[in-house]
Amino acid sequence: MFSRPELFDFHGVAMTPCVTNNWEKVRSFQARPDDILIATYPKAGTTWVSYILDLLYFRHLSPERQTSIPIHERVPFLEIAVTPGASGTELADKLPTSPRLIKTHLPVQLVPKSFWEENCRIVYVARNAKDNMVSFYHFDRMNQVQPEPGEWSSYFQRFLDGQMLYGSWYDHVGNWWNKKKSYPKLHYMFYEDIAEDTEAELDKLCSFLGLSPSAEEKQAILELVHFDNMKNNEMTNCSKLNFLDFNISPFLRKGKVGDWKNHFTVAQNELFEEDYKNKMNDPTLQFRTEI
Ligand code: A3P
Repeated sequence: MFSRPELFDFHGVAMTPCVTNNWEKVRSFQARPDDILIATYPKAGTTWVSYILDLLYFRHLSPERQTSIPIHERVPFLEIAVTPGASGTELADKLPTSPRLIKTHLPVQLVPKSFWEENCRIVYVARNAKDNMVSFYHFDRMNQVQPEPGEWSSYFQRFLDGQMLYGSWYDHVGNWWNKKKSYPKLHYMFYEDIAEDTEAELDKLCSFLGLSPSAEEKQAILELVHFDNMKNNEMTNCSKLNFLDFNISPFLRKGKVGDWKNHFTVAQNELFEEDYKNKMNDPTLQFRTEI
């Protein structure tokens, strides 16, 4: 039913038609000042943070909303256009709630300019490259509209070469990190920190957003966003997306820091570390590969 696309170069970044089909509308998308953009490299915890934000703003809107609208409709995926007529920009334009929560995987240089002009709040989530790579591999296996992942060993090399959808992880996390210096309304989060102490990260997020939920409210949200609860919740486990094959792998797969150890060989780890030193030379940007 779905065919797996090839990657091609788009403004210097590896992309597929799902992302570029609707580019004119993406490029000219009109952001509103209170929009909140959730930006990530794929598989960094986008759904987790999207759900946290959705609950912070809209948990009390109506009970039906929480049980009938999947998270990918509540938080539209800006640049995606898998099938004609169901593009992220259209979904975002039709959102009845405000602030609008909008998700993107775009590298910072391709974000539509209206988000900067309107001075929107942006939440960026980054995950360490090793776990990010493993998670992306399993996602590409189960996602029928992603390029064919092939064997793990060749996938590993492709990741190092930046030949992934949305390009190089190294450029993505690094360029967004640099953007923080000139754009104060950017909150940069790490998957590992959220995994280690979700409450502390929730507090920092709320302070960035100017929200002050009650202690009860916070506890309720922390419970709902727990991995097991999100995995068992049809509105957050992505089971409604028909191009994902759950017989191959679940979308919420393991939710762990350090799963790379079950995939990397000793030789791959050495190669990775050597390459990492050459690519990541900003000492202020540090990732943890275990907690
Ligand atoms: P794994 O494949 O390592 O399990 P994204 O939403 O950006 O596509 O990221 C998906 C990754 O985030 C998956 O990683 C998924 O399990 C993990 N994730 C999603 N919700 C989570 C949660 N509540 N706790 C921990 N990890 C979560």
